[in-house]
Order: sequence, then C-alpha cells, then structure tokens
Amino acid sequence: METTSKPLRKKTCFLPLILSLLTSSILIAFSLFFTSSSNPLHHLQSKSKTLQSQTPVFVESKLNISPTNPDSTVPKLAYLISGSSGDVESLKRTLRALYHPLNQYVVHLDLESPPEERLELVEFVNSEPVFREVGNVRLVNQVPTLWFNTTLFFICLTDLLHTFSTVPRDLNFIEHTSDIGWKEFQRAKPVIIDPGLYSLKKSDVFWVSQKRSVPTAYKLFTGSAWMMLSRPFVEYCIWGWDNLPRIVLMYYANFLSSPEGYFHTVICNAEEFKNTTVNHDLHFISWDNPPKQHPHFLSIDDYERMVESHAPFARKFGADKELLDKIDLELLGREPDGFVTSNWFDRSDTNKTIAESIVRNATELRPGPGAERIKTLIGGMLSDKDFHMKHCI
Ligand SMILES: *[C@@H]1O[C@H](CO)[C@@H](O)[C@H](O)[C@H]1NC(C)=O
Ligand SMILES: *[C@@H]1O[C@H](CO)[C@@H](O)[C@H](O)[C@H]1NC(C)=O
Ligand SMILES: *[C@@H]1O[C@H](CO)[C@@H](O)[C@H](O)[C@H]1NC(C)=O
Ligand SMILES: *[C@@H]1O[C@H](CO)[C@@H](O)[C@H](O)[C@H]1NC(C)=O
Repeated sequence: METTSKPLRKKTCFLPLILSLLTSSILIAFSLFFTSSSNPLHHLQSKSKTLQSQTPVFVESKLNISPTNPDSTVPKLAYLISGSSGDVESLKRTLRALYHPLNQYVVHLDLESPPEERLELVEFVNSEPVFREVGNVRLVNQVPTLWFNTTLFFICLTDLLHTFSTVPRDLNFIEHTSDIGWKEFQRAKPVIIDPGLYSLKKSDVFWVSQKRSVPTAYKLFTGSAWMMLSRPFVEYCIWGWDNLPRIVLMYYANFLSSPEGYFHTVICNAEEFKNTTVNHDLHFISWDNPPKQHPHFLSIDDYERMVESHAPFARKFGADKELLDKIDLELLGREPDGFVTSNWFDRSDTNKTIAESIVRNATELRPGPGAERIKTLIGGMLSDKDFHMKHCI
C-alpha cells in the first residue's frame, strides 16, 4: 500500500476535531502525557533501595508519584486505537488523521475480526514509510477485555498539543459519577465470565447464576469509556504501589462493560488522584433521548453542533462519508489517504526521501482556530468556581 506517494498537504489545521468514527461501538480514548523524566523503573528500584536501608519493610511501601514535565513543553499523547470486525478501513483513516511523530500509537483489532483484516492492518502499518521511519506505531495482538470494542478518532493534533501544553499535566479527563443508577442491577450485581481472558477463540461472555452485592470496600463509579489519563495516574495503575488498582481490576474482570467503570472507580477511591479529575470525556456525543444509552450516528446535520461543542473528539460515526470528508477538508486540512501534517512534514524539496522529509524536531506548534476552541472548553471547566467541589461526587 503505497500511501505516501501521494503528496502530503502541508497545512495548519483550522479546527481540532477528533472524531471517533465508528459503526460499532465503544471508543476508548486512552491517552497519557509522557514525561521525559528518568526511567520510572529505575526510579522504582532506587526508591525501594533507600527504603530497605532505612526500615525493615515487609509490605509494599508507597512510592512517589512521578513528576510531570513543566507545562511549557509540548506534551506527548499515547493513543489506543482499537477496532473489531469490519473496522479496518476506519482504523486506517483514524490512524492517519491522528498521526503525529511526537505521539505513540497502539493499534488493535480484536479476535472478532477475520484474519485477513488483521493481516491487512499489519501490512498497512508495516508498509507505511512514515510509521516505519518514526517507529511510534505498534500493533498488539491480544488486549484484555478492558479494551474491547472499537476506537477511532480524528484530530488536528497541532491544536490539541498546543492547548495541552498550557494545561496542568496531572489532570485526568474522565467523565464519572457515583450515581450508578440502572447499572447497579444490570452491571454491578450480575457476575460474568469473559472467555477473552483465557481463550484464543472469541466467544460471548456468560453469566454466573448467582449475583453479588455492591462493593463496600470501595465505592463504585461509572462514566464514559473515553478518557484521557495522565501519566502519573496510569503509572499508579500499572506499577501498583497501592493494592487498589489490582483489587479493582480483579473485581472488574467479572463485570460487563468494564471500560465504563474501572478507571473511574480507581481514581475516585485514590486520595492522591481524586482531585486531579476533570469531569468530561472531551467528546461530542449525540444521544438518543431518552434513555441515554445509545448515541446516534452523526450525520452532516450535526456538523455545526459538533464544531460549536468545542470538543476535540466526537462519536459515533457510521458510513457517512460526506461528514467525514467535510471534517477532513474543513477542519483537519487532510487529503484523502494523507496525514494532517502541519509542520512535521516538509515536502518542499521533492528530491528528499520520506525519511528526510520528516521534521523530527518540530516542536514549534502553529495553532489554528481550533486551539482556541479547545482552550475555551477546558478553560471553562477549570475556571468553574465549583471545580474543586466536583471531584468524584
Ligand atoms: C461492540 O459493539 C457492538 C455494537 O455496539 C456490540 O454489538 C458488541 O457486542 C460489542 N462488543 C463487545 C465485545 O462488547
Ligand atoms: C482534595 O481536595 C479536598 C477538597 O478541596 C481537600 O480537602 C483534600 O485535602 C484534597 N486532597 C489532596 C490529596 O490534595
Ligand atoms: C532535484 O534533483 C534534480 C536533478 O538532480 C535537480 O535538477 C533539482 O534542482 C532538484 N530539486 C531541488 C528542489 O533540489
Ligand atoms: C531542526 O533541525 C534542523 C536540522 O537538523 C535545524 O536546521 C533546525 O534549526 C532545527 N529546528 C529547531 C526548531 O530546533
């Protein structure tokens, strides 16, 4: 697939609209800010050494929350882009639209997709000279159930990065509530077994005949499956210096639709992180009304509302090519099959190879009007006088 033989348009974005496109389902916008601070593993080791020499500890001690970079530097985002059967074209489109050499991408097609589709995706990623050159796109085979279902976005990254370079790095954008409502009976009490955790073959989850009670050791929270998490919080979940992330993970292994609860429950029960929550998932979603369970597919008629929402992402997108093309043309400045290149790709000298045309030190961001929109959205949330009262309620 010789995609980059097409000229890549050099253009700044008009508006940042990251659009999660998808017929089927759930999109997890899982991103985190990278810090360039020392290797966290090293940090862990050295910390535990000093602890050993001071006190005879036999339980895991608290480790420090890793520091974030100063807000003045350009943040880096990590994306999980995941899809299911029939999503391979959407995945490719999303990856191109979202791509920026500063970021990291993990791409996944679940077991429901036929082998040919997964092969096609592998080929796409391997044959794209830009991905090969920069090496920041990775394919993963098996993703635990937490990440199931599909994910796609569109974004004008320059604007998003620009705005986030002025936002505190420790914030976690995660829409959440403790009012779990109907989910208490339909999600929290039933116990499910997900063969995805142990079987190579994709098969449906099954229900255990007994019900369990609602947890009392921690409080359940629920919310949107799309989120943008900070590096310190993700490290907390992965390194597990507290037992909470692990215990809650075990609990959610038997929970239907765990992406709508795991991180919400962990963050709201962790004193260190509770106050870093921003109750928004950065998405424009058009819900059917009532019962607010299924978002409807966006069409060209939603375009104005979508832009006016100031949200960088939206869902969900069906096969409405007209809308997607309008977004590419008017918001992203992206040509079909091209990248949103901004100033990281210099095609002025056509004699240069692809590798030579990638501007690796493109840290100067030239924001478009989209940066203002995201700033309005985020600034509004952070300057709300009740902001500090709204964590985890
Ligand atoms: C993925 O989404 C589709 C459509 O919303 C749904 O039918 C399917 O059950 C979902 N898959 C999983 C594993 O939840
Ligand atoms: C979080 O905010 C609450 C209310 O403002 C405050 O009482 C608490 O000490 C804060 N927790 C941390 C860890 O900063
Ligand atoms: C590209 O190479 C050709 C042939 O060597 C040369 O004539 C031309 O000036 C070069 N173009 C640029 C922009 O350097
Ligand atoms: C990026 O690198 C090029 C060549 O290595 C250099 O000429 C240019 O000044 C650098 N730009 C910045 C912003 O550091």
